[in-house]
Amino acid sequence: MAAINQLKEDGGIIIPRHIAIILDGNGRWAKKRGLPRTAGHAAGAETFRKIATYCKNIGVQYLTVYAFSTENWSRPEEEVKSIMKLLDNYLHEAIATMERDHIRMKILGDVSALSPSLRAEIEETNEISGRYEGFQANICLNYGGRAEILQAAKRYAADLAAGRASGDITEAGFSSYMYSAGIPDPDLMIRPGGEKRISNFLLWQCAYSEFYFSDVLWPDFGTDELDRAIAEFNRRDRRFGGVKNG
Ligand code: IPE
Ligand code: IPE
Ligand code: MG
Repeated sequence: MAAINQLKEDGGIIIPRHIAIILDGNGRWAKKRGLPRTAGHAAGAETFRKIATYCKNIGVQYLTVYAFSTENWSRPEEEVKSIMKLLDNYLHEAIATMERDHIRMKILGDVSALSPSLRAEIEETNEISGRYEGFQANICLNYGGRAEILQAAKRYAADLAAGRASGDITEAGFSSYMYSAGIPDPDLMIRPGGEKRISNFLLWQCAYSEFYFSDVLWPDFGTDELDRAIAEFNRRDRRFGGVKNG
């Protein structure tokens, strides 16, 4: 943190307002150690805690992580169960620390398919988040980019039919039907774990995100690697389709 904060003070670095991360590589991390895949997920949850705290400390405003996709249900039942249990424990603990640290947290995804205890915790985190300003962690759970766009289209169509929405909706207007309504698009999208694909994450929102791919497996992902991603982000020339000034 020292290095990045020093650079910030020197005016030498821009901290992305919104960082998105695909939490990948837990299974391979465990396999390398001869451990069950579930041990990789537990280690990955610890990494998330560390990276979220670090992001808050260096002035990132939004951190969005991909924790469980709409496609991840196809994994063995035991693995799905253990991921859900970890999420349950994580949210249970997070509820206490959110209050203490004034952290906002939002779950993005189709929560209707989740267990009653997870749904109750999600409701509680939403209620707490409404009371604070500042750093926000978004956890994508039973999330799919296509599913998100489809549910947005259906809700818009229903509003249109009921006369609650205009026929010439804008991009900004349509964004308000996304799970991510009110959250600015990610500036920096990070995928650890070595794969170079988007795997159905934030398809609508990442139109102009900068991508950073890392071979580091998520449980090994440290603040030094995040610093490297931010440094690389600072070397990018974001043009948004325009031309560079000067
Ligand atoms: C990411 O790690 C966690 C989830 C997708 C839930 P993986 O479980 O995909 O780990 P690898 O890619 O098999 O190493
Ligand atoms: C993406 O990782 C989903 C999450 C990290 C939650 P996957 O491991 O599921 O993606 P693929 O299968 O490598 O594309
Ligand atoms: Mg994976």
